[in-house]
Amino acid sequence: MAESIAATAGGQAAGTPGSGTDPGSEDSLIRALRPRNFGEYVGQGNVISSLKVAVQAAKQRAEAVDHVLFHGPPGLGKTTLAHIIAREMGVKLTHTSGPALERPVDMVGLLSNLEAGEVLFIDEIHRLSHAVEEYLYSAMEDFVVDFVTGKGAYSRTLSFPLKRFTLVGATTRAGMLSAPLRDRFGMVYHLDYYSPEELTRVVVRSAQILEVKIEMDGAAEIARRSRGVPRVANRLLRRVRDYAEVHGKGVATLPISRKALEIEGVDELGLDRLDRQYLSTLAVQYRGGPAGIEAIAATINEDSQTLVDVVEPFLLKIGFIIRTPQGRKATPEGLSHLGVDGSANADADADRKQGKLGI
Ligand SMILES: Nc1ncnc2c1ncn2[C@@H]1O[C@H](COP(=O)(O)OP(=O)(O)OP(=O)(O)O)[C@@H](O)[C@H]1O
Ligand SMILES: [Mg+2]
Repeated sequence: MAESIAATAGGQAAGTPGSGTDPGSEDSLIRALRPRNFGEYVGQGNVISSLKVAVQAAKQRAEAVDHVLFHGPPGLGKTTLAHIIAREMGVKLTHTSGPALERPVDMVGLLSNLEAGEVLFIDEIHRLSHAVEEYLYSAMEDFVVDFVTGKGAYSRTLSFPLKRFTLVGATTRAGMLSAPLRDRFGMVYHLDYYSPEELTRVVVRSAQILEVKIEMDGAAEIARRSRGVPRVANRLLRRVRDYAEVHGKGVATLPISRKALEIEGVDELGLDRLDRQYLSTLAVQYRGGPAGIEAIAATINEDSQTLVDVVEPFLLKIGFIIRTPQGRKATPEGLSHLGVDGSANADADADRKQGKLGI
């Protein structure tokens, strides 16, 4: 397999396993857990079936795979899939990200260095500047980059041919992609949250790699509290492993997992401290809402992007909050999870309607 990771514009390089980092460090453990091929990838059945066909067909034709866009919340496996595509094709992957490509020349440099069939992975592709993005259009569609030289009547457009490459884009914000860019991807996949059963498989697989002894109900408990996200499942497994080594003879049983997750501040539904802080701010300070995201972010002193990308998608999915044109609102289910009386919210609503509350 020729998959490797090339140098990255803007220094976003992701190291290869064994690239000088301590083999026992958290970083190298995280890398070791990343599935390397379709067979190791748990869940997202429809996406995987479709990608397998695309890869197989491209190999048979000795062509590059069509451009692929992955979108969905953080930690669901977008970057992992980009690497798997390259590995399954047996080609090199060049990893970069939207903010790292500051100038058109960065983009042109990367594109012109790609060999036939290679994968260019652009993470956070929604953060490409407009000027840089424009170079991608002809690169993706016609495999050329167009330069304009000179000015006014003397200007000329020069076209440089590129090899047929595969662009893999990843974003947590599909809505922020421009239509011309989005339309140039031959395959667009939304990654959804994983089921507890799928996450149990992720946990068991990771436990094997990390050589953690884990009981099935211990694994299921971690999975149940991982809010549908493999990255969270792997993180919680590492915390449970620490706790089991110190307090539990090294075996991650159900009681050990529960205790470790409680100490981590992860509740039975998988909400962590930040999730609960968000919810309680909305419920108490803003009386259930509606409240604007910037106001909530300022109140809890957290970056609004993090709240939108990480916290809100899960709270929306489990029906604890809703988005309205006026702002975010906590639902009765969200309020009762916090032990806040929903009727206070209803009273506040009624008061607001009568103009009693100045919010
Ligand atoms: N389907 C899966 N099976 C097993 N493990 C997975 C799977 N998807 C993701 N993981 C694990 O979760 C971690 C996070 O995945 P990845 O980095 O690919 O997420 P991402 O979608 O790119 O997140 P971000 O939006 O934050 O970049 C990986 O290191 C991997 O160990
Ligand atoms: Mg990623």
